[in-house]
Amino acid sequence: MESNTSQNVTADRTLELSGAQMQQLIDLVMPHLRAFLDSLAEQPAWSFDGAAAVARSVMEPLPTAGTDPAIVFRRLFEELLPVGVNTAGPGYLAYVPGGGVPHAAIADLIAATVNRFVGLWNGAPGLAQLEVAVLRWFSDIVGYPASAGGFFTSGGSLSIWSAIVTARRCGLRGELSRGTLYTSHQAHHSVAKAAMFAGLPPENVRLVPVDSAYRVRVDAMIELIQHDRRDGFVPFAIVGHAGTTNTGAVDDLAELADLAAAENLWLHVDAAYGGFFMLTERGRGLMRGIERADSITLDPHKGLFLPYGTGCLLARDQNHLRQAHQLRGEYLMPGPEEEFFDLSDISPELTRAARGLRVWLPLMLHGVEPFRNNLEEKLDLTVFAAEQLRLLDEELDDHLEVITDPQLTVVAFRLVRAGLTDEQIDDLNIGLRDVINASRRVLLTPTRLHGRYVIRICILSFRTHRDRVEDCLEEIRRAVREV
Ligand SMILES: Cc1ncc(COP(=O)(O)O)c(C=O)c1O
Repeated sequence: MESNTSQNVTADRTLELSGAQMQQLIDLVMPHLRAFLDSLAEQPAWSFDGAAAVARSVMEPLPTAGTDPAIVFRRLFEELLPVGVNTAGPGYLAYVPGGGVPHAAIADLIAATVNRFVGLWNGAPGLAQLEVAVLRWFSDIVGYPASAGGFFTSGGSLSIWSAIVTARRCGLRGELSRGTLYTSHQAHHSVAKAAMFAGLPPENVRLVPVDSAYRVRVDAMIELIQHDRRDGFVPFAIVGHAGTTNTGAVDDLAELADLAAAENLWLHVDAAYGGFFMLTERGRGLMRGIERADSITLDPHKGLFLPYGTGCLLARDQNHLRQAHQLRGEYLMPGPEEEFFDLSDISPELTRAARGLRVWLPLMLHGVEPFRNNLEEKLDLTVFAAEQLRLLDEELDDHLEVITDPQLTVVAFRLVRAGLTDEQIDDLNIGLRDVINASRRVLLTPTRLHGRYVIRICILSFRTHRDRVEDCLEEIRRAVREV
């Protein structure tokens, strides 16, 4: 039998792209990206034409040989990408948009090419510290002191998860099964999901009623906490909101901070949607008290217009993150001394991409002003949209109800027709949303408020300007007359 000696070892160097080969691939993909960017305003806001066929077409066996890159890129851009929701375009007014500044793609290209890990400071001191620097900027934006720190996550959900784990590990004295957490009835479902991941019984998440502006009722929260304590539960955390998904409501964070202090509870603020409005004067007015929260979730892939995959968690005292997350293996290099630290000691991940680079690069290239200006513009556009809907209401026989005055950049509305039952009004609005979206100039998504179906306009993409909001209003004007 032939032995497998070292002479038989062959080296397959196919994957070791030279600089020139890398350049060739980039040159092949760039025309597609240019065409994509330059046609964004004309592209439909959504298209599900042939969605199932496209999805099925990718379920192929593992390729044994390579395919011409020109064919692969063409397939991606011509067949796969046009189907679905155009989250990069100006007509995406659904859920919570952001748009995705393309500078971040350049940062990702660099980060993936140099392939540094940042979980351990020694691995890439420059890149790891750059994340710490960006998180310092964020801490300054929310008004946190020098003791603050944080880390980047893939999005808001995982940030809230780590926040609740931190609250539990630092603040819950007693059995987990008796621990209770208080949040708004309007909370994003990621709060309940995070509590579930953190091991809390789902029924121990108390959804507190809201006022007419959809802000949590602190008086009701106090009552619930007292009631729970009498029943032997152990309240340990409050999750407040700086911008709910449904209506953009901002809770009274100063009052929540007072309550948390009085009851010795951890205060987390879900500012995934609204946090970066702290860059504006109006936002700072609304979110007064956020700096007193123990931890804050921010989602740069929403209010800082980053591409998806960029969330973050901040804590007013970084030591709390360490207390909740630190655990080391003996195979790891020792951490740095004093001034510096390993990000893996204060966060759940070890090996991960240098996520901070994609936030740092656009801020370095442009400074913060264009971000602030865009947020101011979106606040103005939302006021404009709400005003226009109210003017439209005056022209109609039906009632076009604007649910609340906008606090941030969501306007929720619904059409109410006299003589219909609640269910029939819901159906009317389901039809209305379909007619508005049928133009494909915009995509609006609905929600339910107090059980009733409402349509939301969320204006947050940096590519959405007055012209597209006017298009949206025009589609609504046309649709309310059609349904
Ligand atoms: C208020 C709020 N919190 C949390 C989340 C969850 O964030 P992500 O989707 O980044 O996980 C969202 C998402 O839209 C949100 O709007």
